[in-house]
Amino acid sequence: MHLDYHSLQIIAAGILLAVANPSAASNDVQRSACPEDYSPCSCDLTSNGLEVVCADISIENIQDVFYRTRSLFLYSVSLTASTSSGTVTLPADVLKDKRAQHIYLSCPSTLPKLNLVIDSASFEFTRFNTSIFEIHDCDLSAQADMNFLNGFVVLHTLRIVNTWTFDAIGSLPTLPAIKELTISRCTGLGNVPFPDLTPARLERLYLDGNSLNDDQVNNILISIGSSSSSSSMEQLSLADNALTRVPRIAAFSQLVTYNVSNNDIPYMSLSTLIFSSPVHFLGLKNVSLTAIEGGAFQGNYTYAQVNLENNQLTAFREDVFKSMLQQMTVQPPAVGGQVIVTGNPFDCGCGLAWLIRDNQPLVPSVKNGVCGGFFRFEDLNPDAYANC
Ligand SMILES: *[C@@H]1O[C@H](CO)[C@@H](O)[C@H](O)[C@H]1NC(C)=O
Ligand SMILES: *[C@@H]1O[C@H](CO)[C@@H](O)[C@H](O)[C@H]1NC(C)=O
Ligand SMILES: *[C@@H]1O[C@H](CO)[C@@H](O)[C@H](O)[C@H]1NC(C)=O
Ligand SMILES: *[C@@H]1O[C@H](CO)[C@@H](O)[C@H](O)[C@H]1NC(C)=O
Repeated sequence: MHLDYHSLQIIAAGILLAVANPSAASNDVQRSACPEDYSPCSCDLTSNGLEVVCADISIENIQDVFYRTRSLFLYSVSLTASTSSGTVTLPADVLKDKRAQHIYLSCPSTLPKLNLVIDSASFEFTRFNTSIFEIHDCDLSAQADMNFLNGFVVLHTLRIVNTWTFDAIGSLPTLPAIKELTISRCTGLGNVPFPDLTPARLERLYLDGNSLNDDQVNNILISIGSSSSSSSMEQLSLADNALTRVPRIAAFSQLVTYNVSNNDIPYMSLSTLIFSSPVHFLGLKNVSLTAIEGGAFQGNYTYAQVNLENNQLTAFREDVFKSMLQQMTVQPPAVGGQVIVTGNPFDCGCGLAWLIRDNQPLVPSVKNGVCGGFFRFEDLNPDAYANC
């Protein structure tokens, strides 16, 4: 068959158009004009509701907008206050009587960061209606407590990101509906006792990038492990901290996702990891791991993704991996779990005989196993291990 140059061009243009404009079909959020004027803030009326954004606007002007406008229920409010001093103070009733499902506070990306001070009555009227609350890029050293979240009975997600001196976490009030707590790239978290979250049933705790050491993480996990969240926690992330040991998780009976990547954990000992529920994901990527003791991994790994990339493992041991791989291999390779070992300097010697010579069916569940620098596990000849 012969296609001329012109029709190829048309086909190519058609493909480009289809790729370049994916939002036309998939973006189901319709935007239209808001019923009121929110300037100098901006407003969109979407299928979610009213979405108000006040970026680099003074507190006086922000307050004026919410005192002037009438629509009581807002979908989201996003505030980045500007100031000529180093401190932004949110006064009582900054949104007046408005109720916002989602509230996002942020500080301009200046260095040093701007101080944010939130009055305990700043968000009083919205406390029965706000489900997501976030703070980004601020310094909270002048914030004495978290009382501005008092009575937030439907709040399910609290995220504090890239924020300094977050010591106020110690005074987090009771948030009965909280499911996700993210404190990521913050400082101050290790300075104060972690709050007792009872009676909350937290499901996801993400504490990445907070420079936490073993003792600090241990104290946090003891606090949560002895709260009502011990039997609800499903996902825990402690990536990018200063851990030298894998924190124990036996207190969390529902935990299925655990990420401790980007720490410095050279050695894993027996029974460090005991999962009571079937594992989804275990992240041990780039933790300078040189050795794992037999029996370190305990639990149901049938569908688990176990990431051991970019470590210094030289041995792929039977007493560490065999039972895990046997569970994974019960399912077809595309369905069952896998152990990802990209970037480890495994030795090709007799230590691999148990796998290559005696358990070939387990090999497909090991992803990117390479020994001696370039021999892929799946290409190794079982006969070469005959004399081991
Ligand atoms: C806001 O909260 C009140 C009190 O709980 C409730 O009656 C109302 O339905 C909520 N409205 C919205 C839009 O969430
Ligand atoms: C685990 O943490 C690493 C490092 O922060 C991150 O790159 C990775 O996406 C995380 N994995 C999951 C499944 O959350
Ligand atoms: C590996 O982890 C260390 C912390 O132990 C971190 O400094 C480094 O950036 C990480 N490397 C990558 C590629 O993420
Ligand atoms: C492991 O968990 C899966 C569900 O994720 C379940 O179907 C299977 O029976 C469990 N295996 C064992 C040995 O308990």
